[in-house]
Amino acid sequence: MTVTTNRLRIAIQKSGRLSQDSQALLTNCGLKINLREQRLIAHVENMDIDLLRVRDDDIPGLVMDGVCDLGFVGENVLEEVSLQRQLDNESYDYTVLARLDFGGCRLSIAVPQEEDYQSIKDLEGRTIATTYPRLLNRYLKQKGVNCRIVNLKGSVEVAPRAGLADAICDLVSTGATLEANGLKEVEVIYRSKAVLIQRRDLADEKQLKLIKKLMPRIQGVMQANE
Ligand code: PRP
Ligand code: ZN
Ligand code: MG
Repeated sequence: MTVTTNRLRIAIQKSGRLSQDSQALLTNCGLKINLREQRLIAHVENMDIDLLRVRDDDIPGLVMDGVCDLGFVGENVLEEVSLQRQLDNESYDYTVLARLDFGGCRLSIAVPQEEDYQSIKDLEGRTIATTYPRLLNRYLKQKGVNCRIVNLKGSVEVAPRAGLADAICDLVSTGATLEANGLKEVEVIYRSKAVLIQRRDLADEKQLKLIKKLMPRIQGVMQANE
C-alpha cells in the first residue's frame, strides 16, 4: 500500500531578510506553525501544510523541480536561477501567485567612494564581484560593456578592499553595508520584491483547494498592512 500525504509543501527561507516576513504572513493567515529551531520541516498544526526551511537560493529550484509546491522568494534570486537554468537547458517553469509587500531591495553596482565614476563605460575591462553573475552579465551585455565577473557567495562587499575586484554588484536595502565598506551605489540593475511562486504542474485537487483557500487570506493580510 502506498501512503500519500497530500500535504502542501511551502519552501521558505530559513534565515535571512525574507524569513521573518514570510513566516509572519503565514501566521497572520491563520496557520499555526509548529516551529522548532534547526528543524528543516515545520508542520502546520491546523492545515495540511508543511514548511520547508531552506536557503533562499535553493527555493526557485525546489519549486521548478516540483519538490516543493509553493515558495517565498526574492525576485532577484528567482530571476538569477531562471537565467542559469535556461543556459543549462533545465526546466525553469513556475507561476507567480502574488507579488508581496516585503523584501524590497535593489541589485546595484557599487564602486569605492573615492572613485571618480561617470558612467558604466568606466567599468570596461574591470573586475566586478557578485553573487548574481547572470543578472550582471545580462545588464553588461545590454550596455555593451565587457567586464570580468568574479563569483562570490558571500562577503561581496569586502572584495574591493581585499583587492579581489574593482567593483561589486550586490543587493542594497538601506545602503548601510555599502556605507560601512566605503562603497557608493552607481548603477541600479534590478529592483526586487518577495514573491510567492507555485510549481507549474501542480494537479492534486486537495492541494489546489488549499491554495484557493489561502490566497484570499494572503491578499487580505496585505491589504490590512497598507
Ligand atoms: C544583502 C547584501 C548586503 C546587505 C545589504 O545580504 O548582500 O550584505 O543585504 O543591505 P543594506 O543595504 O540594508 O545594508 P542579504 O541579507 O540578502 O543576505 P545574503 O546575501 O546572505 O542572501
Ligand atoms: Zn542568499
Ligand atoms: Mg549579504
